[in-house]
Amino acid sequence: MSSVDQYAVFGSPIQHSKSPRIHKLFAEQTGQALEYRAELVPAEQFTAAVKAFFAQGGRGLNCTVPLKELAWDYADKLTERAELSKAVNTLALQEDGSILGDNTDGIGLVTDLRLNHALSLKQKRILILGAGGASRGIIGPLLDQQPQLMTVANRTVEKAVVLAQEFAHKGSVSACGYDDLSGQSFDLILNATSASLSDELPPLVEGLLAEQGSCYDLAYANKATAFVRWGREQQAIKSLDGLGMLVEQAAEAFYLWRGVRPDTTQLIQLLEAERQGVG
Ligand code: ATR
Repeated sequence: MSSVDQYAVFGSPIQHSKSPRIHKLFAEQTGQALEYRAELVPAEQFTAAVKAFFAQGGRGLNCTVPLKELAWDYADKLTERAELSKAVNTLALQEDGSILGDNTDGIGLVTDLRLNHALSLKQKRILILGAGGASRGIIGPLLDQQPQLMTVANRTVEKAVVLAQEFAHKGSVSACGYDDLSGQSFDLILNATSASLSDELPPLVEGLLAEQGSCYDLAYANKATAFVRWGREQQAIKSLDGLGMLVEQAAEAFYLWRGVRPDTTQLIQLLEAERQGVG
Protein backbone atom coordinates (compact mmCIF):
# COMPACT_ATOMS: atom_id res chain seq x y z
CA MET A 1 0.00 0.00 0.00
CA SER A 2 1.33 3.41 -0.96
CA SER A 3 1.79 6.03 1.74
CA VAL A 4 0.30 8.67 -0.57
CA ASP A 5 -3.49 9.17 -0.35
CA GLN A 6 -5.23 7.13 -3.03
CA TYR A 7 -8.12 8.23 -5.24
CA ALA A 8 -9.62 6.71 -8.37
CA VAL A 9 -12.38 6.84 -10.95
CA PHE A 10 -14.32 3.64 -11.63
CA GLY A 11 -16.39 3.11 -14.75
CA SER A 12 -16.84 1.13 -17.93
CA PRO A 13 -15.58 2.19 -20.41
CA ILE A 14 -12.89 4.24 -18.68
CA GLN A 15 -9.82 4.41 -20.92
CA HIS A 16 -10.65 7.87 -22.30
CA SER A 17 -11.43 9.41 -18.91
CA LYS A 18 -9.85 12.82 -18.40
CA SER A 19 -10.30 12.60 -14.61
CA PRO A 20 -6.81 11.24 -13.71
CA ARG A 21 -5.19 14.09 -15.58
CA ILE A 22 -7.53 16.72 -14.14
CA HIS A 23 -6.98 15.56 -10.54
CA LYS A 24 -3.21 15.27 -11.04
CA LEU A 25 -3.13 18.88 -12.20
CA PHE A 26 -5.36 19.99 -9.31
CA ALA A 27 -3.02 18.20 -6.86
CA GLU A 28 0.07 19.87 -8.35
CA GLN A 29 -1.58 23.27 -8.34
CA THR A 30 -2.73 23.04 -4.71
CA GLY A 31 0.35 21.22 -3.38
CA GLN A 32 -1.68 18.19 -2.27
CA ALA A 33 0.09 14.81 -2.17
CA LEU A 34 -2.23 12.24 -3.73
CA GLU A 35 -2.48 9.63 -6.44
CA TYR A 36 -5.50 9.23 -8.71
CA ARG A 37 -6.00 6.40 -11.18
CA ALA A 38 -8.68 5.12 -13.55
CA GLU A 39 -9.97 1.58 -13.13
CA LEU A 40 -12.17 -0.39 -15.50
CA VAL A 41 -15.02 -1.62 -13.28
CA PRO A 42 -18.14 -3.14 -14.86
CA ALA A 43 -21.39 -2.94 -12.88
CA GLU A 44 -21.27 -6.55 -11.69
CA GLN A 45 -17.87 -5.99 -10.07
CA PHE A 46 -18.73 -2.65 -8.49
CA THR A 47 -19.36 -3.64 -4.87
CA ALA A 48 -16.31 -5.88 -4.61
CA ALA A 49 -14.09 -3.28 -6.27
CA VAL A 50 -15.24 -0.45 -3.98
CA LYS A 51 -14.82 -2.57 -0.85
CA ALA A 52 -11.31 -3.58 -1.92
CA PHE A 53 -10.40 0.03 -2.74
CA PHE A 54 -11.37 1.41 0.66
CA ALA A 55 -10.02 -1.65 2.51
CA GLN A 56 -6.63 -0.93 0.90
CA GLY A 57 -6.60 2.62 2.20
CA GLY A 58 -8.42 4.45 -0.61
CA ARG A 59 -9.73 7.89 0.42
CA GLY A 60 -12.14 8.85 -2.34
CA LEU A 61 -13.70 7.60 -5.56
CA ASN A 62 -15.40 9.02 -8.58
CA CYS A 63 -17.98 6.80 -10.23
CA THR A 64 -19.09 7.23 -13.80
CA VAL A 65 -21.24 5.33 -16.31
CA PRO A 66 -22.75 2.82 -15.52
CA LEU A 67 -22.03 2.98 -11.79
CA LYS A 68 -23.65 6.16 -10.45
CA GLU A 69 -26.86 4.50 -9.27
CA LEU A 70 -24.89 1.64 -7.69
CA ALA A 71 -22.71 4.17 -5.88
CA TRP A 72 -25.88 5.85 -4.61
CA ASP A 73 -26.98 2.49 -3.15
CA TYR A 74 -23.53 1.82 -1.71
CA ALA A 75 -23.03 5.06 0.24
CA ASP A 76 -23.68 4.99 4.01
CA LYS A 77 -24.75 8.63 3.97
CA LEU A 78 -25.80 10.99 1.18
CA THR A 79 -25.66 14.73 0.70
CA GLU A 80 -29.04 16.30 0.01
CA ARG A 81 -28.20 16.87 -3.65
CA ALA A 82 -27.12 13.23 -4.05
CA GLU A 83 -30.24 12.00 -2.27
CA LEU A 84 -32.47 13.86 -4.72
CA SER A 85 -30.50 12.99 -7.83
CA LYS A 86 -30.53 9.26 -7.02
CA ALA A 87 -27.02 9.09 -8.43
CA VAL A 88 -23.58 9.49 -6.86
CA ASN A 89 -20.45 10.48 -8.75
CA THR A 90 -18.24 10.99 -5.67
CA LEU A 91 -17.62 8.74 -2.67
CA ALA A 92 -15.58 10.05 0.24
CA LEU A 93 -14.19 8.18 3.24
CA GLN A 94 -15.25 9.95 6.45
CA GLU A 95 -13.31 10.14 9.72
CA ASP A 96 -15.62 7.61 11.36
CA GLY A 97 -14.93 5.12 8.56
CA SER A 98 -18.30 5.58 6.84
CA ILE A 99 -18.64 6.42 3.15
CA LEU A 100 -20.35 9.66 2.11
CA GLY A 101 -21.98 9.83 -1.34
CA ASP A 102 -22.23 13.15 -3.16
CA ASN A 103 -23.27 14.24 -6.63
CA THR A 104 -21.16 17.14 -7.92
CA ASP A 105 -22.47 17.09 -11.52
CA GLY A 106 -25.23 19.65 -11.01
CA ILE A 107 -23.13 22.11 -9.05
CA GLY A 108 -20.37 21.65 -11.64
CA LEU A 109 -22.80 22.65 -14.37
CA VAL A 110 -24.09 25.66 -12.42
CA THR A 111 -20.54 26.84 -11.68
CA ASP A 112 -19.56 26.53 -15.33
CA LEU A 113 -22.64 28.49 -16.45
CA ARG A 114 -22.42 31.22 -13.83
CA LEU A 115 -18.73 31.74 -13.21
CA ASN A 116 -17.04 30.64 -16.44
CA HIS A 117 -19.70 31.90 -18.83
CA ALA A 118 -21.36 34.68 -16.81
CA LEU A 119 -24.83 33.22 -17.44
CA SER A 120 -27.20 34.11 -14.62
CA LEU A 121 -30.12 31.70 -14.16
CA LYS A 122 -32.24 33.82 -11.87
CA GLN A 123 -35.69 34.50 -13.35
CA LYS A 124 -34.68 32.73 -16.59
CA ARG A 125 -36.79 30.22 -18.50
CA ILE A 126 -34.93 26.93 -18.65
CA LEU A 127 -35.65 23.93 -20.89
CA ILE A 128 -34.05 20.57 -20.14
CA LEU A 129 -34.09 17.98 -22.92
CA GLY A 130 -34.17 14.41 -21.63
CA ALA A 131 -35.39 12.79 -18.42
CA GLY A 132 -32.72 10.18 -17.66
CA GLY A 133 -29.95 10.09 -15.08
CA ALA A 134 -28.14 13.13 -16.46
CA SER A 135 -31.27 15.28 -16.08
CA ARG A 136 -31.92 14.00 -12.58
CA GLY A 137 -28.43 15.14 -11.53
CA ILE A 138 -28.84 18.76 -12.64
CA ILE A 139 -32.47 19.72 -11.92
CA GLY A 140 -32.04 20.40 -8.18
CA PRO A 141 -28.96 22.64 -8.41
CA LEU A 142 -30.51 24.52 -11.37
CA LEU A 143 -33.74 25.13 -9.44
CA ASP A 144 -31.66 26.42 -6.52
CA GLN A 145 -30.69 29.29 -8.84
CA GLN A 146 -34.33 30.44 -8.84
CA PRO A 147 -35.20 30.40 -12.52
CA GLN A 148 -38.60 31.77 -13.48
CA LEU A 149 -39.61 28.33 -14.72
CA MET A 150 -38.17 25.02 -15.82
CA THR A 151 -39.60 22.59 -18.36
CA VAL A 152 -38.37 19.03 -18.79
CA ALA A 153 -39.12 17.61 -22.25
CA ASN A 154 -38.69 13.96 -23.10
CA ARG A 155 -39.61 11.45 -25.82
CA THR A 156 -41.14 9.28 -23.13
CA VAL A 157 -43.27 11.94 -21.46
CA GLU A 158 -44.06 9.86 -18.35
CA LYS A 159 -40.39 9.91 -17.32
CA ALA A 160 -40.37 13.71 -17.47
CA VAL A 161 -43.59 13.83 -15.43
CA VAL A 162 -42.03 11.69 -12.69
CA LEU A 163 -38.95 13.95 -12.56
CA ALA A 164 -41.04 17.13 -12.41
CA GLN A 165 -43.05 15.70 -9.52
CA GLU A 166 -39.94 14.69 -7.60
CA PHE A 167 -38.46 18.19 -7.79
CA ALA A 168 -41.69 20.20 -7.49
CA HIS A 169 -40.86 21.22 -3.91
CA LYS A 170 -37.75 23.05 -5.17
CA GLY A 171 -39.36 25.36 -7.72
CA SER A 172 -41.57 25.74 -10.76
CA VAL A 173 -40.92 22.66 -12.92
CA SER A 174 -43.23 21.08 -15.48
CA ALA A 175 -43.00 18.20 -17.95
CA CYS A 176 -43.96 17.70 -21.59
CA GLY A 177 -43.21 15.93 -24.87
CA TYR A 178 -41.27 17.55 -27.72
CA ASP A 179 -44.44 18.32 -29.71
CA ASP A 180 -45.86 20.28 -26.79
CA LEU A 181 -43.00 22.79 -27.00
CA SER A 182 -44.40 24.58 -30.09
CA GLY A 183 -44.91 28.27 -29.45
CA GLN A 184 -42.75 28.35 -26.32
CA SER A 185 -39.30 29.90 -25.99
CA PHE A 186 -36.53 29.59 -23.41
CA ASP A 187 -33.49 31.60 -22.33
CA LEU A 188 -31.39 28.49 -21.72
CA ILE A 189 -31.77 25.09 -23.35
CA LEU A 190 -29.76 22.22 -21.89
CA ASN A 191 -29.32 18.93 -23.70
CA ALA A 192 -29.25 16.10 -21.17
CA THR A 193 -30.25 13.37 -23.63
CA SER A 194 -27.79 10.73 -24.72
CA ALA A 195 -28.54 11.64 -28.36
CA SER A 196 -25.23 13.52 -28.69
CA LEU A 197 -23.31 10.30 -28.23
CA SER A 198 -24.62 9.16 -31.62
CA ASP A 199 -24.46 12.68 -33.11
CA GLU A 200 -28.25 12.87 -33.12
CA LEU A 201 -30.64 15.57 -31.99
CA PRO A 202 -33.94 15.38 -30.14
CA PRO A 203 -36.82 16.56 -32.40
CA LEU A 204 -36.66 20.30 -31.70
CA VAL A 205 -39.20 22.70 -33.14
CA GLU A 206 -38.18 26.11 -34.54
CA GLY A 207 -38.29 29.20 -32.35
CA LEU A 208 -37.49 27.41 -29.08
CA LEU A 209 -34.56 29.63 -28.21
CA ALA A 210 -35.38 33.15 -27.05
CA GLU A 211 -33.39 36.10 -28.38
CA GLN A 212 -30.11 36.36 -26.47
CA GLY A 213 -30.64 32.76 -25.32
CA SER A 214 -27.94 30.15 -24.78
CA CYS A 215 -27.55 26.42 -25.36
CA TYR A 216 -25.55 23.90 -23.32
CA ASP A 217 -24.86 20.26 -24.13
CA LEU A 218 -23.92 18.20 -21.08
CA ALA A 219 -21.92 15.93 -23.38
CA TYR A 220 -18.56 17.03 -24.78
CA ALA A 221 -16.47 15.98 -27.72
CA ASN A 222 -13.45 17.14 -29.68
CA LYS A 223 -15.79 18.44 -32.39
CA ALA A 224 -18.97 20.47 -31.87
CA THR A 225 -21.82 18.12 -30.95
CA ALA A 226 -25.05 18.04 -32.98
CA PHE A 227 -26.73 20.09 -30.24
CA VAL A 228 -23.93 22.68 -30.08
CA ARG A 229 -24.25 23.06 -33.87
CA TRP A 230 -28.04 23.40 -33.53
CA GLY A 231 -27.55 26.15 -30.95
CA ARG A 232 -25.28 28.06 -33.33
CA GLU A 233 -27.89 27.74 -36.08
CA GLN A 234 -30.47 29.19 -33.68
CA GLN A 235 -28.19 32.22 -33.13
CA ALA A 236 -27.51 31.34 -29.49
CA ILE A 237 -25.25 33.95 -27.88
CA LYS A 238 -23.41 30.98 -26.37
CA SER A 239 -23.62 27.37 -27.53
CA LEU A 240 -21.47 25.35 -25.16
CA ASP A 241 -20.62 21.77 -24.44
CA GLY A 242 -19.89 20.04 -21.14
CA LEU A 243 -16.10 20.33 -20.96
CA GLY A 244 -16.31 23.08 -18.33
CA MET A 245 -18.85 21.07 -16.35
CA LEU A 246 -16.47 18.10 -16.38
CA VAL A 247 -13.69 20.18 -14.85
CA GLU A 248 -15.99 21.91 -12.35
CA GLN A 249 -17.58 18.68 -11.07
CA ALA A 250 -14.03 17.36 -10.57
CA ALA A 251 -13.06 20.52 -8.66
CA GLU A 252 -16.07 20.08 -6.39
CA ALA A 253 -15.12 16.43 -5.71
CA PHE A 254 -11.52 17.52 -5.01
CA TYR A 255 -12.85 20.08 -2.54
CA LEU A 256 -14.98 17.46 -0.79
CA TRP A 257 -11.96 15.17 -0.42
CA ARG A 258 -9.22 17.65 0.37
CA GLY A 259 -10.95 20.77 1.68
CA VAL A 260 -9.06 22.84 -0.89
CA ARG A 261 -10.66 24.43 -3.94
CA PRO A 262 -8.51 24.25 -7.07
CA ASP A 263 -8.51 26.99 -9.68
CA THR A 264 -10.25 25.68 -12.80
CA THR A 265 -9.77 28.50 -15.29
CA GLN A 266 -6.33 27.59 -16.57
CA LEU A 267 -7.16 23.91 -16.85
CA ILE A 268 -10.30 24.55 -18.88
CA GLN A 269 -8.28 26.83 -21.17
CA LEU A 270 -5.63 24.14 -21.57
CA LEU A 271 -8.17 21.42 -22.44
CA GLU A 272 -9.94 23.79 -24.86
CA ALA A 273 -6.68 24.60 -26.60
CA GLU A 274 -5.76 20.92 -26.85
CA ARG A 275 -9.01 19.89 -28.44
CA GLN A 276 -8.88 22.74 -30.90
CA GLY A 277 -5.54 21.35 -31.94
CA VAL A 278 -7.15 17.93 -32.32
CA GLY A 279 -10.43 19.00 -33.96
P1 ATR B 1 -28.35 9.25 -18.96
O1 ATR B 1 -27.97 8.61 -17.67
O2 ATR B 1 -27.19 9.64 -19.84
O3 ATR B 1 -29.32 10.37 -18.80
P2 ATR B 1 -30.49 7.51 -19.70
O4 ATR B 1 -30.95 7.47 -18.29
O5 ATR B 1 -30.49 6.25 -20.52
O6 ATR B 1 -29.04 8.07 -19.81
O7 ATR B 1 -31.38 8.61 -20.45
C1 ATR B 1 -31.16 8.95 -21.78
C2 ATR B 1 -32.08 10.13 -22.13
O8 ATR B 1 -31.81 10.52 -23.48
C3 ATR B 1 -33.56 9.79 -22.07
O9 ATR B 1 -34.25 10.95 -21.68
C4 ATR B 1 -33.87 9.43 -23.53
O10 ATR B 1 -35.22 9.60 -23.87
P3 ATR B 1 -36.29 8.43 -23.53
O11 ATR B 1 -36.45 8.45 -22.04
O12 ATR B 1 -37.53 8.84 -24.22
O13 ATR B 1 -35.69 7.17 -24.04
C5 ATR B 1 -33.02 10.45 -24.23
N1 ATR B 1 -32.66 10.13 -25.62
C6 ATR B 1 -31.74 9.25 -26.06
N2 ATR B 1 -31.62 9.28 -27.39
C7 ATR B 1 -32.49 10.23 -27.83
C8 ATR B 1 -32.84 10.74 -29.12
N3 ATR B 1 -32.25 10.30 -30.23
N4 ATR B 1 -33.78 11.73 -29.17
C9 ATR B 1 -34.37 12.19 -28.05
N5 ATR B 1 -34.08 11.75 -26.81
C10 ATR B 1 -33.16 10.77 -26.70
